[in-house]
Amino acid sequence: MAGRVEGKVALVTGGAMGLGKADCEMLAAQGARVIVTDREVEQAHKVADAIGGDAMALDVTDEAQWQHVMAAVQERHGGLDILVNNAGNVIFESVEECSTANFRLHLDIHVMGTFFGCKYGIPLMKNRAETHGGGGSSIINMASTASLMGYGNIVAYTAAKGAIRSMTKSIAMHCQDNGYGIRCNALAPGGIETPMVRDISGRAGQDLMAVPDGPLDANALGSPKDVAYAVLFLASDEARFLNGLEIPVDNGLYARPHH
Ligand SMILES: NC(=O)c1ccc[n+]([C@@H]2O[C@H](COP(=O)([O-])OP(=O)(O)OC[C@H]3O[C@@H](n4cnc5c(N)ncnc54)[C@H](O)[C@@H]3O)[C@@H](O)[C@H]2O)c1
Repeated sequence: MAGRVEGKVALVTGGAMGLGKADCEMLAAQGARVIVTDREVEQAHKVADAIGGDAMALDVTDEAQWQHVMAAVQERHGGLDILVNNAGNVIFESVEECSTANFRLHLDIHVMGTFFGCKYGIPLMKNRAETHGGGGSSIINMASTASLMGYGNIVAYTAAKGAIRSMTKSIAMHCQDNGYGIRCNALAPGGIETPMVRDISGRAGQDLMAVPDGPLDANALGSPKDVAYAVLFLASDEARFLNGLEIPVDNGLYARPHH
């Protein structure tokens, strides 16, 4: 049986570990040709080797690297169908603690990284349905529940994720108004067990916790595959009527009045 993203070309940023790695594995398992990118290039190659994909070095803050990567994707694959702007960092600091440099770092990685991805990805992604059939292309930006709510101890992260949420809608409208056949949505995960969450939970260096299958209680962490399934859906033609959204993938966290 054909996979849900069979034959599509997908590029994932921050694909070496955590959510990005799970996205790469999921998209490849469902038939996509995946380009795993990360600034941790050795780790990206391991992920790519395991799924039969390509790996490329890409620091998302570096505009010239984006231009180089997209030129290589165009040459090797003739275009791009799925772009997952996932790379990210977080430093726990309030507005009073946060240095100017750390605030700018978050804006560089999340906001500029996502902007560059869309700016240089869209030319490869537009009008793909005309030549390749299917439901068109899909950009998936990684926001966070931190783009929807206030968190006193991560001011720079919330600012950056809020910008991703708004930018996603503007990019969706631009692509729709120009008839490109590109949808652009954001996911807003909350509390997923990844190296980032392990490290900020004081468990740096330990193995990642196994997340059980089945229903999870309110305080449980999710598994990277819980986000990867949402990425897969948005990436697939099944989601052709979903555009300009931010979708929490948070086990109900945002729905709670007293979070
Ligand atoms: N884990 C969660 O609960 C959660 C919740 C909400 C949002 N997110 C977002 O999901 C994304 C992935 O998070 P994660 O938990 O997998 O984090 P992680 O730290 O486990 O993995 C992040 C990946 O991004 C890469 N990266 C960091 N800076 C980069 C740069 N400048 N250029 C290229 N690659 C870079 C890292 O090398 C790493 O492979 C991030 O944008 C994060 O903000 C995560």
